[in-house]
Amino acid sequence: MSRQYTASVVGGGAGGKLSLNALEASERFVLKAACDLRAEVREALAASYPGIVIFPSHEEMLAQCPTEVVCVSTYPPSHEEVALAALESGVKGILVEKPLGHTFESGRRILEAIAAKQIPVAVPHGLLAKATPLEIIRRVQEDEIGRLVLVEIQCRGWDILNAGIHWLHFCRMLTPSDLPLTVHAAIDASTRTYRDGLQVETAAVTSIVHASGLRVILHTGDETPVNVPGKSFVFRLIGEQGVIEFWGWENGFLLNSEKVLPAEFSVTGHRRHLETLADQMEGALLDYTLANASLSALELCEAAYLSGEYKAQVMLPLTGFLPPDPFTDWQPGKPYLGANGGRDGRIFG
Ligand SMILES: NC(=O)c1ccc[n+]([C@@H]2O[C@H](COP(=O)([O-])OP(=O)(O)OC[C@H]3O[C@@H](n4cnc5c(N)ncnc54)[C@H](O)[C@@H]3O)[C@@H](O)[C@H]2O)c1
Repeated sequence: MSRQYTASVVGGGAGGKLSLNALEASERFVLKAACDLRAEVREALAASYPGIVIFPSHEEMLAQCPTEVVCVSTYPPSHEEVALAALESGVKGILVEKPLGHTFESGRRILEAIAAKQIPVAVPHGLLAKATPLEIIRRVQEDEIGRLVLVEIQCRGWDILNAGIHWLHFCRMLTPSDLPLTVHAAIDASTRTYRDGLQVETAAVTSIVHASGLRVILHTGDETPVNVPGKSFVFRLIGEQGVIEFWGWENGFLLNSEKVLPAEFSVTGHRRHLETLADQMEGALLDYTLANASLSALELCEAAYLSGEYKAQVMLPLTGFLPPDPFTDWQPGKPYLGANGGRDGRIFG
C-alpha cells in the first residue's frame, strides 16, 4: 500500500471542491482541513466535509494544521501569496489551480519558488487527465497525421482565459518543442460580459504562429458559432497527411472521419493529477512538464488580451513586450494620401 499524505485546500469554491472531492475519494490522501474567507462557504464546507477542520484564512490553517499537500484554489490574483505561504509552511507537494497566476510573471514566480524547493506541483488541467486528449497527443507526436500545420478551435460560451487556457495548454502539450512566436487577437467587448471574476470578451479570434509555421486559431465568445451541430467545442487538428476532430471534454474523436473511442481511465480529473503528485512525492521523478506548459498557455492568454487591448501583434516571449505608441493616424483600409511617411508595401524585405 502506498503512503498516505495529509492534505488541505485553500478556497472552497468550484475549483476548491474539485480538489476536496478528489482528496476525499483517493486512498493516497487524508483530507485534514480547508479554509475560506467567506462565512457562508465555511458553513457549507463544514456540512459537506464533516471531520475536517475549517479555518477563516490560509494563515491560520497553515499555522494550526500544517499538511504535506496544500491545494491553492482561490482567485488567481491570490495564488502567489497563498502558494508562497504554503511553501514556507513546509509542504511536500502543492496543487495550484489554473491559471497559475493572474499574470504570466506571477505564474512564473510561483513555479520558480516551487522548483527552488524541489517539490512536485500539480496544475489540474482536466484534458490532460483524460484518455481521449492524451491519445490524440500521442498519435500527433507519432506522426499519424503528418506535420501539424493548423489547429482550429471553436469555443462557444467561454473566453480565452477561463476555458481557452485549457485548450492552449493542450496545444502546448501537442507540440512542446515548437515555440509560439507571435500572438494576434481581435477582441470585441460590446456586451460587457464578465465570467469567474474577470471582464471577458463578447467574441474574439486569436491567432498564434509557431516557429514551425503551425497556426493555432482560437475562436471564443458568448455566441461563437460552432460548425458541428450540437457541440459547444470543436477542435480540428490539420496535418499534412490527415485530420483529427474532437470536442473538448467529450470522449472519442474522428481520425480522417473514422470514429475512435479510447477507453476512459478509471480515475480522471483532479484526482488523477493529485495521485500523480503523490507518486512524485513518493519518489517518482519530479516532472514539471504540465506545469511549464500551463505557464506557457498563460503567456499566450495574456499576450492575446494585450494584443486585443493595443491592437498590435505581440511577439513572444512576453517579457520583452513594450506597448506600442497609442497614437497612430494609420488606418488600414483607408486611402493612402501620399503623405505622413509610411513604407511601400510593394517592396519586400
Ligand atoms: N481546473 C479546473 O477545472 C477548475 C475548475 C473551476 C475553477 N478552477 C480554478 O479555481 C480557482 C478558483 O475558482 P472558483 O471557480 O473556485 O472561484 P470561486 O469564486 O467559486 O471560489 C474561490 C473561493 O476562494 C475563497 N478565497 C479567496 N481568497 C482566499 C484566501 N486568501 N483564503 C481563503 N479563501 C480564499 C473565496 O472566498 C471563494 O469562496 C480559479 O483559479 C479557477 O480558474 C479550476
